[in-house]
Amino acid sequence: MLSERSAAVVGATAGVVAEHAVEITAAFYPRMFAAHPELLHLFNQGNQATGEQRQALAAAVVAYAGHLLGGSGPSFAPVLRRIAHKHVSLGVRPEQYTIVGQHLLAAVGEVLGDAVTREVHDAWDEVYWLFATALIAEEGRISQRVGADPQRVWRPWRVTARTAATAEVVSFDLVPAGPEPLPTYLAGQYISVAVDLPGGGRQARQYSLSRAPGAGSLRITVRRVPGAGGAPAGVVSSHLHDQVKVGDILDVSPPTGDVTLATGADPLVLISAGIGVTPMIAMLGHTARLQPERPVVAVHADRSPDHHALRSEMIEIGALLRDFHLHTWYESGAGSSTAAGIGRAAGVGSARGAAGTARGESRHTGALDLDAVPLPDGARAYLCGPLPFLRDARAGLLRRGVPAQRIRYEIFGPDLWAGAPA
Ligand SMILES: Cc1cc2nc3c(=O)[nH]c(=O)nc-3n(C[C@H](O)[C@H](O)[C@H](O)COP(=O)(O)OP(=O)(O)OC[C@H]3O[C@@H](n4cnc5c(N)ncnc54)[C@H](O)[C@@H]3O)c2cc1C
Ligand code: HEM
Repeated sequence: MLSERSAAVVGATAGVVAEHAVEITAAFYPRMFAAHPELLHLFNQGNQATGEQRQALAAAVVAYAGHLLGGSGPSFAPVLRRIAHKHVSLGVRPEQYTIVGQHLLAAVGEVLGDAVTREVHDAWDEVYWLFATALIAEEGRISQRVGADPQRVWRPWRVTARTAATAEVVSFDLVPAGPEPLPTYLAGQYISVAVDLPGGGRQARQYSLSRAPGAGSLRITVRRVPGAGGAPAGVVSSHLHDQVKVGDILDVSPPTGDVTLATGADPLVLISAGIGVTPMIAMLGHTARLQPERPVVAVHADRSPDHHALRSEMIEIGALLRDFHLHTWYESGAGSSTAAGIGRAAGVGSARGAAGTARGESRHTGALDLDAVPLPDGARAYLCGPLPFLRDARAGLLRRGVPAQRIRYEIFGPDLWAGAPA
């Protein structure tokens, strides 16, 4: 808890810090990288270039100060958990908090100048260390649970299969190259993959595990990020697509991630767009294997059926469920089809209908319209896709009466939506 003395100072200065938070974090990263160039490889340089990481850090610090001051916002626990899982995945170590703290506080001084008296400095230092100790504790717990050694988080894994999912998406099957057993994981979790780039430098990225736990390998499914509008092509996805073949070794960290399938029998609604399908396939497969009676509605939006990665797998897994409905929205090439459930109750002999539609698939042209999807009562929803898609889908679910606590989302980048109002 924040001391009474600091609470008064933080309360009085929170507004000005919030107003300048992105400026502060923008000053923080270059300072820290100049003093510690060895940290450059740890941070996603794409997120540095686009400014997303500085926004995420600024939003988190402001939200945490509000939480300490007893603000009425949504619970801070999920925000903290998300950051901690990401940190563990990247091997962030407790001693590195001193470096971040030193440069973050220095950046506050640099941006706010004389307004940062000794008293103000000390009060925000206290905020920082309360946040840091909460994260270090959570990261310790997660590391212990997943068997991660923060001093040696990266282990060599061998690529055992490489499969094209669409023209732009490739799946890689991975197994430990050493004697370690395959780790267990929860549907919805991700690993980080670190690669040495051809031009020098090293970068890590997260990839959701795109298959249910229980197979003899882990699988990731990677979309190639093209260059567009003057922005360069994605470095790690391009490297994986262009360079990595069967037999190659990749540095991989243990599975982590807080957006995982809740146990229980309540119906599931899995909503994804584009490559956001990957955690949904793991959740769907896990449900088909262990709870085939559990009703599932899968909703997916994509450019066309041909761009829909793992589409046929989704249909095949759906056919193992008793009560499965698939709703697809394609910008083009949708045709039309509507029929009953795809699951065994619908008598799947041939899961295919006309024009490549699956039996029981409701296909639509255009952008996702959740109002057209019959939702089961008491559903629990999982979302994954770009931020505007997530916002619309979440708003649609709330309108339809799904409570905020039953909606979880995964974002394939820094969470710029943390603390969204219920
Ligand atoms: C939890 C999680 C799970 C994920 N799961 C998956 C998954 O299952 N499958 C998948 O494909 N991806 C997934 N991702 C996304 C993945 O981690 C990478 O972000 C993605 O592959 C892009 O990485 P990259 O190195 O290819 O692109 P980067 O090089 O990081 O580039 C990203 C974007 O930044 C832009 N950019 C880079 N530098 C600049 C610059 N100087 N100026 C302007 N713009 C710039 C690029 O043009 C590009 O649009 C996941 C992410 C997270 C956080
Ligand atoms: C109190 C201190 C810290 C706070 C509040 C904080 C906050 C955050 C936040 C909000 C994110 C984005 C999470 C997301 O993906 O949504 C993040 C990611 C990250 N953090 Fe921290 N962090 C702290 C300390 C550290 C330390 C000590 C290190 C190691 C030097 C570190 C390294 C990273 C890295 C490498 C990422 C991923 C960056 C990216 O993908 O662009 N953080 N952190």
